[in-house]
Amino acid sequence: MSFTQTRTLGARRHLLGLEDLSAAEINEVLETAIPCKEIIQREIKKLPTLRGRTVVTLFFEPSTRTRISFELAAKWLGADTVNVTVSTSSVQKGENFVDTARTIEALGADFIILRHSMAGAAHLLAENVKCRVINAGDGAREHPTQALLDIFTLKEKLGRIQGLKVAIVGDILHSRVAMSNIYGLTKLGAKVMVVGPPTLIPKGLTELGVEVEHNLDRALNEVDVVNMLRIQLERQQKGLFPSLREYARLYGLNAERLNKARKDLIVMHPGPTNLGVEITEEAATDSRSVITAQVTNGVAVRMAIFYLLNGGRANDEFLS
Ligand code: CP
Repeated sequence: MSFTQTRTLGARRHLLGLEDLSAAEINEVLETAIPCKEIIQREIKKLPTLRGRTVVTLFFEPSTRTRISFELAAKWLGADTVNVTVSTSSVQKGENFVDTARTIEALGADFIILRHSMAGAAHLLAENVKCRVINAGDGAREHPTQALLDIFTLKEKLGRIQGLKVAIVGDILHSRVAMSNIYGLTKLGAKVMVVGPPTLIPKGLTELGVEVEHNLDRALNEVDVVNMLRIQLERQQKGLFPSLREYARLYGLNAERLNKARKDLIVMHPGPTNLGVEITEEAATDSRSVITAQVTNGVAVRMAIFYLLNGGRANDEFLS
């Protein structure tokens, strides 16, 4: 077996994206997240795995799910955690984010969890610090932990990834979630279709083996899973679609569309949702929706990532 096949996530210092990861490394995270999920369902959740380690979240963009789930994952593995509030840090005095991160490292951080609007920010940081870096979203490039929790949730619900057909719908152009899902799902043998107006679908995706569709109703007849993406109003240029109302009419998931869809369709959304735009409240809370499970699974998957980057192996008996 080659080095690439046997390499584990712990052999890497950082988790920067799924583009770089092998199927074996992705599967290692998915396997490790199973006992982690069991731990988070216990009354007493604490393990000593990361005792003595310090985890710092450094988020230059807003977040609820990712930041809190990283913090809970670190705490439940016994780490000390610190959240940097960028709005009250020396970033406001002109310090660049690499200097901020070096300062955080000098203060004792073992892991820095970075969210930044610049594509490649986590890679740049990883080249400039000795501690471990986890990418919590870099511009429109990647959001690897979101894709890993999405894939974990699908595997939990359907028992497999190989052979599934997954539609990722909406603002693909601005979506790091879409890119990480495309890399992860295709590496594990799923077929990916992107659905949206031509103005929101970047060129070159077919070279990654992705099918492009512009009609949501047609797509819903073909797929096992639909992953509805948030319209990223903060990254939109004007004129990419006529209006939010028109977007919702053509690409929004609503009760009428779901009533016509297959009964075992899986509905996903990474959150936060623009209710009434890409998904209605009725669709988001339909029995086929796994949105709440995605959020819960985010903690288990991030525990698994900490565990593996800290040198653990998927088959360790760390539950005992
Ligand atoms: N899905 C996701 O990244 O959500 P947050 O922006 O709330 O972290």
